[in-house]
Amino acid sequence: MKKNTKKWSERFSEPTKQIVKRYTASVNFDSRLALVDIEGSLVHAEMLKNQKIILTKDFKAIQKGLNQIKKEIIADRFKWSLDLEDVHLNIEKRLIEIIGEPGKKLHTGRSRNDQVSTDMRIYVRNATDHIVGQIKNLQRATIHLAEENIYTIMPGLTHLQVAQPVSFAHHLLAYYEMLERDVCRFNDFRMRMNLLPLGAAALAGTSYPINRNFVAKKLGFDGVMQNSMDAVSDRDFLIEFNAAASILMMHLSRWAEELIMWSSPFFKFVEISDGFCTGSSIMPQKKNPDVPELIRGKTGRVYGHLMALLTLMKGQPLAYNKDNQEDKEPIFDVIDTLEDTLEIFPEMIAELKVFPVNMEAAATKGYATATDLADYLVKKGISFREAHGIVAKVVKAAVTKDCDISEFDLITLKKYSKIIESDIYKYLTLEGSIKSRKHIGGTAFAAITKTIHKAKLNLN
Ligand code: ARG
Repeated sequence: MKKNTKKWSERFSEPTKQIVKRYTASVNFDSRLALVDIEGSLVHAEMLKNQKIILTKDFKAIQKGLNQIKKEIIADRFKWSLDLEDVHLNIEKRLIEIIGEPGKKLHTGRSRNDQVSTDMRIYVRNATDHIVGQIKNLQRATIHLAEENIYTIMPGLTHLQVAQPVSFAHHLLAYYEMLERDVCRFNDFRMRMNLLPLGAAALAGTSYPINRNFVAKKLGFDGVMQNSMDAVSDRDFLIEFNAAASILMMHLSRWAEELIMWSSPFFKFVEISDGFCTGSSIMPQKKNPDVPELIRGKTGRVYGHLMALLTLMKGQPLAYNKDNQEDKEPIFDVIDTLEDTLEIFPEMIAELKVFPVNMEAAATKGYATATDLADYLVKKGISFREAHGIVAKVVKAAVTKDCDISEFDLITLKKYSKIIESDIYKYLTLEGSIKSRKHIGGTAFAAITKTIHKAKLNLN
């Protein structure tokens, strides 16, 4: 083992133990923050110069040094050191190495506590904007598929039993709506998150004549945080991000589950294209929907991170505690999982093969238009409860005969209710059933066409 001689500062008489260095270091994962860290430092230094806290020539040197470091990082030439604990100290040390004395002035009036909170906000803000763009892409793919399937009829299910016929587009549009709320959730928490912590310093603020509004504006924040202790301490913004991410993944997981089900030979409603499936090492006939299965599976880790973050925060006294360093790995993993999932999903949808004939055939099984018969009776003056009872008897007879209720002739139907006339057949067809649900939010072809039109305007 390498001999460890370095002390933290003159305050310490013993060097840090090697295992402790490894245990406390975050550089292995927080180096992801390097570019936003530099972005924040550049503006902080500029503010120090404007406020005459540092000299212009010192600011120029800092600017030059930080830009060089940025290039080194982008070119993957930067040497990260575990001895320097985290991304912030690594960059500061390198800055001093490059420009000397002026580099030592960068940390004036700030602390790593407000620095890291600022970095995380910028990083998560950028990720949020990217993710929102990706969700919209998925919505576009959804609308595209819906538009091609307005007249594709499928069984709408409740309790996984055939309930009523719906248009496949209507089913897809349900996901469009869920995704729309996901977009709102991300944009909503972004507003609360997008306030600048910098200036809080370690916890109490700083005695230098800083200008927080300048820094906030230049870094794209909507304002400054109003309490320095809150600014360095809370991670509620990450919890909100993770919560929004969990809900999004829950939606995607449900949809993935349906794709898995629909592509099974028992349903055969859709086929997922080969590029998103894998074979089996033993059963040559298999084509496994690995991608939707993993979307469903990875939802678990996103939920898990939410619980980790909630637990991370629950017992912490104000203000900053090192516990907070544990916020990063979960959040980075959530971002990676979301970004990958959202890259894959629209493509998978775009390449989905739909089998309308199979869908429609499934809708004809299971007495999907029984409610339409009941509604027909009600419109002719019978109470709904009574109609429900009449139709139940018709369905029972159809089950016994193993046929659909639309296959009964008028004389047979009249045995159950005299008011049934020959116009009933137009209600008992799948199309008739669908067309009659023409209010806002219903599955009628006309209603869906309008919804698609509105969704397209919204996405442009
Ligand atoms: N690496 C630390 C973190 O992620 C930075 C803040 C360190 N502050 C401190 N007082 N030790 O939270």
